[in-house]
Amino acid sequence: MKRRNIGAHISVRDLCHRYRRHEELALSGISFEIKPCESIALVGRSGCGKSTLLHILAGLMSPTSGSVRIDGALVSGPSPDRIVMFQQPHLLPWMSVAQNVGLGLKFAGEARHERDEKVKELLRLVDLDGFGARNVQELSGGQQQRVALARSLATHPEVLLLDEPFSALDPVTRRSLQRDVRRIALDGGITLVVVTHDIAEAVAMADRAFIMAPNPGRLAEILKFDADLLAGTDREREMFVSAKAQLESAFERTYGRGSAAAAD
Ligand SMILES: Nc1ncnc2c1ncn2[C@@H]1O[C@H](COP(=O)(O)OP(=O)(O)O)[C@@H](O)[C@H]1O
Ligand SMILES: [Mg+2]
Repeated sequence: MKRRNIGAHISVRDLCHRYRRHEELALSGISFEIKPCESIALVGRSGCGKSTLLHILAGLMSPTSGSVRIDGALVSGPSPDRIVMFQQPHLLPWMSVAQNVGLGLKFAGEARHERDEKVKELLRLVDLDGFGARNVQELSGGQQQRVALARSLATHPEVLLLDEPFSALDPVTRRSLQRDVRRIALDGGITLVVVTHDIAEAVAMADRAFIMAPNPGRLAEILKFDADLLAGTDREREMFVSAKAQLESAFERTYGRGSAAAAD
C-alpha cells in the first residue's frame, strides 16, 4: 500500500454511443481531457448518459465511435487498473470482510500471508481496522461501502470510477465517505471520476465538474473549482458555498430555472 501511482491521464475524443440502431444517441460528440490525479464529477439529470460514459471509460462497453485513451493507450476492455464502484457494494455475503477485501488479490495469485498483510492495511485505510473477521451482513450500509472501497483499492487502480456510490447512504455517512475517498485518491495518486446528481457531492469531491445535457447525452459545460475543500475551515466553508452556487447556476443554464433545487 506504500506504492503510489503517478495517476492516469484520460483522453476522450469524439465519443458517440447508440445502444440500438435507429435509436437516439445516448452520447454524442464528447471530448475532454482529465489530468493525472485529477478528480472529476459528472453531473446531470437522470438519463443524460452519465453511467454510459463511465462504463465506456472503464472499458466495460465499447463506444459506437470515438476513443478513450489512458496514458496514450486505447481502452479496449476492462482492466484492474480501472475500477468501477457502484451504488450497491456487491459484497459476497458468505465471506468475511477480510475475504471480500482480499478477493482480487487471491485471483491475482498472491500468497496468503502477503494477502493478509495487505488486507489489514487496506482496512486501516478505509477506517475499518479490526473488522476483518466480521460477517459483511452485520455491517451498516456505509461500512459495507467502505469494504467495497478497500476491495477496489487492493489492486492499486490508477483510475477509480464511481457511479453514484453513496446515494443510498444517510447524509453524515455519505459526507465522511466523500471526504475519505477524496483523501485516499489524493494520497494514492488515483484519478477519480464520480457520477453524481448531487451538487454538494460534486463540489466536495471534484476539481472540476462536467455538466451533461440529455437527448443526446453531451457535455454542456465544464466548471473548475479553485478551492481545496477538504479541511473544513471557515474560509473553506465559504468557498464551498460559493462553488456550490456556481455549479447550481451552471446546472440551471443547462436545465432551466429552478432545476438545481430539484437536482438532489
Ligand atoms: N442497456 C441499455 N440499453 C438501451 N438503452 C440504454 C441502456 N442503458 C441506458 N440506456 C439509455 O441511454 C441513455 C443514457 O442512460 P444512462 O447512461 O443510464 O444515464 P444516467 O446514468 O445519466 O442516468 C438513456 O436514454 C437510457 O434509457
Ligand atoms: Mg446512471
